[in-house]
Amino acid sequence: MPTELTVNGTQVVIDLPAETPLLWALRDGLNLTGTKYGCGVAACGACTVHVNGMAERSCQITLGEVAGAEITTIEGLGSPDALHAVQAAWIAGQVAQCGYCQSGQIMQAAALLSENPAPSVQGIDEAMQGNLCRCGTYPRIRAAVLDAAKRLQEV
Ligand code: FES
Ligand code: FES
Repeated sequence: MPTELTVNGTQVVIDLPAETPLLWALRDGLNLTGTKYGCGVAACGACTVHVNGMAERSCQITLGEVAGAEITTIEGLGSPDALHAVQAAWIAGQVAQCGYCQSGQIMQAAALLSENPAPSVQGIDEAMQGNLCRCGTYPRIRAAVLDAAKRLQEV
C-alpha cells in the first residue's frame, strides 16, 4: 500500500513496500540522493535525516514507520538563497573533504542546534560522535557547529 508522508514541506505518496528503509524510499522513490548510504546498520550517520524534527538514521527506519511524518533531508534544510546557519558555517569553514559523510553531519548538527542553541564543545562532540568521517574532518566540524550556533544567535 502506498505511504503518505511530508518530505521537505511537500506531501508525497511513495508506492514502495512498507518495509522499505526510509533511506531507499528517499533515494529511489523520490530521487533525493543527498542522503547517503554508508553502513546500513546505524553505525556511521551518513543517512541522517530529520523525522518530525529529530535526527534519525534513515537506514534503520521503514517507510511504514514514518507514514504521516514530516521528513527533512539535506535538500530541504535550506535553499541556495536562504542557507541554513549550519550550511553557511560549513561553507565558511570549508568543512568537507570527500563530502560523503557531510549531509549526515549537517543534519545531525542542525538537529543538535535546534535542541540546544548554545552547546559546549563537549556537548558537540557527544552529539556528533555517531557521525563518522573517514576523512577526519572532525576539528572543522566542531568549529563549524560553534560558528553555526553564533550565526543562529545573531539572527
Ligand atoms: S547508513 Fe545509516 S547509519 Fe550508516
Ligand atoms: S568528508 Fe570524507 S568521509 Fe567525511
